[in-house]
Amino acid sequence: MTPRYLVLVALLGSALAHANDDALIADTKKQASGIPPKLLAMVQDEIQKGSFPGAIAACSDKAPKMAAAASQSTGWSIRRVSLKNRNPKAVPDEWEKVALQDFDRRAGAGENPATLEKAEIINEGGQRMVRYIKALPTQALCLSCHGTSDKLSAEVQQQLRQAYPNDLAVGYSEGQVRGALTVKRPL
Ligand code: HEC
Repeated sequence: MTPRYLVLVALLGSALAHANDDALIADTKKQASGIPPKLLAMVQDEIQKGSFPGAIAACSDKAPKMAAAASQSTGWSIRRVSLKNRNPKAVPDEWEKVALQDFDRRAGAGENPATLEKAEIINEGGQRMVRYIKALPTQALCLSCHGTSDKLSAEVQQQLRQAYPNDLAVGYSEGQVRGALTVKRPL
């Protein structure tokens, strides 16, 4: 083969690899995007039933269980993180922190927080993986547990104090980024 053909073959190979990466990212997004609406429906459901303990359980117990079940069925790591976390384990790693800071800046500048996401294929400790993070916006119904103190009932405040003595996840207003759903998909 002449060098010109070799260049063509190399270009084609790289184009195919890119197409494959794009497909992997699209597939990861598609599978992960189904989770936040389910979480939201669960919290909504409990609030409609008038049960704040139930809604707290939905966010504190069922949400991590749902993420764990999704992790197990896919073999990926799926969890929620926040720059101002309530669960002491919901601390972002460096990649997530950079994304969350960017989301905060963009939501503050008026971008719709529901559209904020980032996806990338990276090498981490020798392991290639898709990383995907999607903002979870603070909506009106989140304020009863994540809002300013005037929005939190005495009952909720007491429950939160008991369960999360180091809670940082209050003081939010509608439209801010509460945290994110984050996925690591090993390739
Ligand atoms: C009834 C109370 C309640 C409501 C309403 C609620 N949350 Fe939460 N949220 C919690 C509790 C409790 C936790 C801690 C969960 C845990 O222990 O993992 C939490 C944790 C989270 C986390 C994980 C990160 C962290 O800080 O630990 C995110 C993200 C989150 N909530 C987003 C939301 C969003 C978005 C809404 C509205 C759609 C919402 N929550 C509504 C109580 C609530």
